[in-house]
Amino acid sequence: MENAQNPRTSDVASLVNLTRYPIENLDTPAGRALIADCRRNLEESGALVLSNFVTPTAAALLAAEARALDWAVHQYHVDHTVYFEPRNETASDGHPRRRLVRTDKGSVPYDLIPSSALLRRLYEWNPLLAFVAAVLNETALYRHGDPMAALNINVHDQGQQLGWHFDRTDFAVTLSLQESESGGIFEYVPNLRTADEENYDGVANILAGDRSAVRQLPAAPGTLTLFRGHFSLHRVSPGSGPSKRLMAALSFAHEPGVIFSPYARKLFYGRETPVNPTATNPALGAV
Ligand SMILES: [Fe+2]
Repeated sequence: MENAQNPRTSDVASLVNLTRYPIENLDTPAGRALIADCRRNLEESGALVLSNFVTPTAAALLAAEARALDWAVHQYHVDHTVYFEPRNETASDGHPRRRLVRTDKGSVPYDLIPSSALLRRLYEWNPLLAFVAAVLNETALYRHGDPMAALNINVHDQGQQLGWHFDRTDFAVTLSLQESESGGIFEYVPNLRTADEENYDGVANILAGDRSAVRQLPAAPGTLTLFRGHFSLHRVSPGSGPSKRLMAALSFAHEPGVIFSPYARKLFYGRETPVNPTATNPALGAV
């Protein structure tokens, strides 16, 4: 007989391909081997791609759930530099500090994703947080504290794209839910800059169309990706076809309670105030 007091999180756990990725049991030989493997891959290329992280059934459920949130999509269009900093008008033509790229996409914010949604429950599931922390070799990691930014579903309709950029954060976690028929490819140039060297010439070459160092990541539905994007220039190419590209962005932070400024919320989500602003993030969690 099932223990009614302990529904556990079995329905959430069953989304994940635990045979291949035993994230509930990291302190076992199989769990330790998984973490070592993940760390090595992330170290080598700055990108860790875990295909079939959720089962095909789960991926289909999560995609259907995301499609049903079409009403909640906020459209975001902006021309920006690869640094997401104001354009330097005095720089020369073609200089990365002056050149603008286009980003246009839709986004469903965390506060409009129902608490019953499987995606949200997966994000709020502590073994996932512990797994990400272990891969990053972090002793303390939290789910992002912003009630709008913590978990997003990024939606790319036909022709929409994410322009070349460097992330301000040091890593990003995404879960692929649905691909467009063509395009919509995640492309990146590993370690194009360092903490000491901006490599403006290299960045300018990529913006001018140099493809020689560009790599692509697969994103079949169900793929979980950890990407270090602070030094690696990256983008999502324009997609085409009737299917929208759906990608969940799961945000984590090194401190609890990190929130976006009202300006950033307005920019990305069109609102400064979350729905039900008195509600606290249900489970920041910590490892
Ligand atoms: Fe990025």
